[in-house]
Amino acid sequence: MRKRILSGMRPTGPLHLGHLVGALGNWVKLQDSYDCFYMVADWHALMSEYEDPKAIRANILECLADWIACGLDPEKSTLFVQSDVPTHLELYMTLSCLSPLSWLERCPTYKEQLREVTTRDLTTYAFLGYPVLQAADIMVYKSNAVPVGIDQAAHLELTREITRRFNAFYGNVFPEPETLLTESPKLLGLDNRKMSKSYGNFIALSDEPRVIEEKTKTMFTDPERIYKTDKGHPEKCNVHAYYRVFAPARADELTAQCKSAAHGCTECKKMLAGILIDVLKPIQERRAKLIGDKKVMFDILENGAEKALAVTEKTMDEVRQKIGFL
Ligand code: TRP
Ligand code: SF4
Repeated sequence: MRKRILSGMRPTGPLHLGHLVGALGNWVKLQDSYDCFYMVADWHALMSEYEDPKAIRANILECLADWIACGLDPEKSTLFVQSDVPTHLELYMTLSCLSPLSWLERCPTYKEQLREVTTRDLTTYAFLGYPVLQAADIMVYKSNAVPVGIDQAAHLELTREITRRFNAFYGNVFPEPETLLTESPKLLGLDNRKMSKSYGNFIALSDEPRVIEEKTKTMFTDPERIYKTDKGHPEKCNVHAYYRVFAPARADELTAQCKSAAHGCTECKKMLAGILIDVLKPIQERRAKLIGDKKVMFDILENGAEKALAVTEKTMDEVRQKIGFL
């Protein structure tokens, strides 16, 4: 039997190049060797968007359209929405009972978000339990592996701790899931900070060519190259990092031209815009088709939820039995 994978994304805004390079590309590749479950995590989105949750619904379809346009195949993988599969919440409640408060309070992402997020009030009961729901998402499929970016590593460690605790109390039900880190180079945002929805410093997968041109113009380059006659340092330039990911052969040629100041940054960014437009064009065409016929997407989600429910009901039967509720 093939090993099982689960991963998820929160529908809090448009997907961008960071998602494509950081997670989606990996998800697509794993489809052929694992039994994959990919989930739009709307409950997790609600934990931060609860004051104004209306956009979550709309973002779910946008997210799914991007996924499929980037190569996730509903024939190979199970694509579904978290809130369509209530067994996640049942396991979440069960795990909540055995998750020590101290484990959650010391979680580094929790502490960081409380410190850094100023536009929302995250001092809620549910937000503390964010990693417990994530553990339930993973465990309810008895997942063997979880493909995520390094920012999720602490949550995966907690999932393994909760797994061990459950198994120690009630008997061996769950495998300890492995973290499959994406090993792609990190793309910074347009302003050299971490690429993030809240900084607004990204190129969305759905950005039109004109928008891509405008955005690439604003990209930070080698900070030590002030005049066109200054020699550049491609290894310190975020624009060059984009070339390395999206046009590796061109990146090699560019290295020499940049170092000898034969090539200017304005020109370099203009060419990058062309490359990105070409990379995104087929994705956007597929995306437009999907958005134009939402029925197809609703069917995919309905199907996905049905499959997800069947698998997770089996796990929950075992869990109910182990805790004596059945
Ligand atoms: N916390 C993840 C993120 O923000 C999303 C997520 C929710 C997830 N449940 C998951 C990822 C389960 C992997 C497995 O990216
Ligand atoms: Fe960066 Fe290109 Fe300018 Fe070199 S020429 S510093 S790679 S933008």
